[in-house]
Amino acid sequence: MSTHTACDLGPLHTLGLRAQAECLVHFTDGHQLQALLAEAERPLRVLGSGSNLVPGERVGGTVIRVELVGRTLLGEDEYAWYVAAAAGENWHDFVQWTLEQGWPGLENLSLIPGTVGAAPIQNIGAYGVELKDRFHGLAALSLEDGSVCLFTPEHCEFGYRDSIFKHGQAGRWLITEVLFRLPKQWEAKLDYGDLRARLDGQEITPQAVADAVIATRQSKLPDPAVIGNAGSFFHNPVVSAEVAAALRERFPGLVNYPQEDGRVKLAAGWMIEQAGWKGKRLGQVGMYDKQALVLVNHGGAGAADVKALMQAVQADVAKQFGVALTPEPIWW
Ligand code: EPU
Repeated sequence: MSTHTACDLGPLHTLGLRAQAECLVHFTDGHQLQALLAEAERPLRVLGSGSNLVPGERVGGTVIRVELVGRTLLGEDEYAWYVAAAAGENWHDFVQWTLEQGWPGLENLSLIPGTVGAAPIQNIGAYGVELKDRFHGLAALSLEDGSVCLFTPEHCEFGYRDSIFKHGQAGRWLITEVLFRLPKQWEAKLDYGDLRARLDGQEITPQAVADAVIATRQSKLPDPAVIGNAGSFFHNPVVSAEVAAALRERFPGLVNYPQEDGRVKLAAGWMIEQAGWKGKRLGQVGMYDKQALVLVNHGGAGAADVKALMQAVQADVAKQFGVALTPEPIWW
């Protein structure tokens, strides 16, 4: 465990904002927690690779960067492989590793930036699959007393880009390890967008699906190594069937997806584009020109710039569509 003071958070999160941590701890071993709890300035904040984060310019207390590594097959039965990965593992590398081992199931989640430990917090999802569909459990350390707790899928209360770790239990746990259940009966999930079309004429294998997902993401989502961003900046809002019907009447092009519970998810990117924000800047930040749902840092921005753009986009979408957009990232 090493500790640094006045640490630049710019390279430690994907939006690349101006931000400094009063104290940063590199957390490489779960046994270090008791010593940390005894000494560290509060509040304690847990950092993975910062791919869903808007840090303020000065972050007080202690930032704990989780750098626990390791991945292993725990076991298998007739129906599934059970795989564990430490929280600090890179998500995409982990997905690729499972595919190389011949354990498919996570291919639709290829190339999502971030760490394994952060994945359950917002129940990452893409191209018709969510983490919760392959999740078996997780181990976490209490930031109050250092005790270990195992969370089952039910404990986690997963929802769309949501879990108990964003609500009732927010800020109380450091996730150390995530367990996955990867069914042996593999079924390609190709119903989202143009995935099926991209695979036309090819043999459908887990790696082919992963490659198609990677190509799709690369074609519209900016690489954080090139331009700062945190993926989708807003949730796709979910509204009642009545509200959706009224909106479709007024806006026949509205992109919308009926949900199992009867409600309707609206494509926020479409509404932001209609509101004129696609490719538009406000100061050092803007909405990406190939995907209006992604807020990008053109260089030198701070959290205040992000907030100003967020509020401007929210106001224009609310004015035109009467729909409230909520931000996806966590704010420090
Ligand atoms: N659209 C536009 N203009 C835009 C952007 C999108 O008209 O500028 C339309 C598209 O034409 C499409 C629809 O909106 O018909 C949906 O767009 P897309 O397929 O790109 O997906 P999304 O709804 O914008 C969601 C997730 C992404 C995930 C993709 C694929 C959320 C908030 N975002 O985006 O997740 O990769 O679906 O499953 O649910 C993330 O959470 O960070 C993320 C990137």
